[in-house]
Amino acid sequence: MNALPSTAQVAVIGAGAMGAGIAQVAAQGGHPVLLFDVREGAASRARENIVGALSRLVEKGRLTAETAEQIGNAISVVDSLDAMADVDLVIEAIVEDLDAKRAVFCQLETLLRPDAIMTTNTSSVSITSIAAPLRHPERFAGMHFFNPAPLMALVEVVSGLATSTQTREVLLATAEAWGKKPVRAKSTPGFIVNRVARSFYAEGLRVLEEGVADVPTIDALIREGGGFRMGPFELMDLIGHDVNSAVTRSVFDAYSQDPRFKPSLIQQELVAAGRLGRKSGRGFYDYAQGAVRPEPATGVAGNAPKRILVAGDLGVAEPLLDSFAAVGIEIERVPGEGVIHLDTITLAFTDGRSATLRAAQESLIDLVLFDLVLDFGQPSRIGLAKADQTSDQALQDVVALFQQACWKVSVIDDAPALVVMRTVVMLANEGADTVLQGVASPADIDQAMRYGTNYPRGPLAWADAIGGTQVLQVLSNLQHHYGEDRYRPSSLLRRCALTQRKLLQARSH
Ligand code: NAI
Repeated sequence: MNALPSTAQVAVIGAGAMGAGIAQVAAQGGHPVLLFDVREGAASRARENIVGALSRLVEKGRLTAETAEQIGNAISVVDSLDAMADVDLVIEAIVEDLDAKRAVFCQLETLLRPDAIMTTNTSSVSITSIAAPLRHPERFAGMHFFNPAPLMALVEVVSGLATSTQTREVLLATAEAWGKKPVRAKSTPGFIVNRVARSFYAEGLRVLEEGVADVPTIDALIREGGGFRMGPFELMDLIGHDVNSAVTRSVFDAYSQDPRFKPSLIQQELVAAGRLGRKSGRGFYDYAQGAVRPEPATGVAGNAPKRILVAGDLGVAEPLLDSFAAVGIEIERVPGEGVIHLDTITLAFTDGRSATLRAAQESLIDLVLFDLVLDFGQPSRIGLAKADQTSDQALQDVVALFQQACWKVSVIDDAPALVVMRTVVMLANEGADTVLQGVASPADIDQAMRYGTNYPRGPLAWADAIGGTQVLQVLSNLQHHYGEDRYRPSSLLRRCALTQRKLLQARSH
């Protein structure tokens, strides 16, 4: 299907943060754009801000003055919906309210040409419900941009029950022509990103609630070890706890209070206290001038071994051995279950059991577990947890091994699946259920998470790299540990693990 031609007129309704950004994107795509807002002067101010943003791009040498002028001139402010009779595409970005949105589209439908497409930028209202009162709901869809729209590449093109394939495909092609990375999604609560990303916050909050590690340590493990751009607490502080917890609550309620999306009491307390994050000067961190950022915990080192024994294959963690070899640690290999021995100490990659349980089950005294990292071949920060039976000296010797190989080490309490592994398997599990329920294809889910939230790797591709069997084992052990439905493995994940099929190749509707 072809994109709308650049001569096609685009109307943007609502000139707030999102509407202004979307108007800029459409104008940069070469379209004449009409911008409307009910608030007196809001659309003109938005236009001035866009022109200001464009001139800053000119100053930075990213845009020629001529192009900036063309883009600015392409945006016209209009003072009523009546001015939109001839447009080809409408993108609505008004308040997040079903009745207000329906009212706009019911009025527009009487004005527009029959072939014009209508879209909403809603994050949380059902596309099917907004379209319900329309006479032609087949030409209506969601076009969900991310903030700031000119910079974020992802657009979720969301089909309601009645959206036609033609409408969806024109929108996908048009978003692509605008330089975006569009994905197809079915209208379900949270679409792709706002649903799958819930686990990123939820698991961070969960380990914090359990006192496994403090805020800066969890953030550092996720950021430095997991390779995410920000840790969960830094990111929630940036988004604002009022906004973040409202999205969580709306997804939780929309999925009939599924415990996977359960809101966190810690976050509710922050909202109640008015500690909304950066915008209020305080959230998990203090943003007052001169406030000092607390440091993540660093493990105390004992004696690094000169030699280790590796029993079996470490799977995705295998490149870790290169970092040990690189600093002259001698490695002897023998067949086995995939663990490392430092004399009497056993060092193992987490399988979702707590170290204490695993040590008891395997009759080990000195057992230390390590967490997942994005790239085991590149020393970054890694989390370690020891069993309750394990001596402090044993833990310190393992810390020394990693530190000698240039890893930063944070020791955390003995939580099943530590921090990064738990977060990644829960993201993948949610992604798998999103595929299973026909909301989006595996490739689109990964693309959405990479471009809508800047994850370093799509969660499904990441789970495939860890291995379906291991991911399933980690989730099953988490579920067993907590006895909670929250950690139930997706049946799609089970099927893939049984047949060694990659999640990225899993069936999609
Ligand atoms: P905003 O509050 O910054 O802007 C909304 C604008 O719509 C205001 O200027 C308001 O005067 C105007 N407005 C309200 N009712 C109107 C009507 N009936 N006709 C014309 N204009 C009207 O809100 P924001 O953040 O730009 O969000 C807009 C939409 O985009 C919402 O549906 C929101 O859920 C969605 N969204 C927001 C994101 C964000 O990060 N802020 C991200 C993605 C989607």
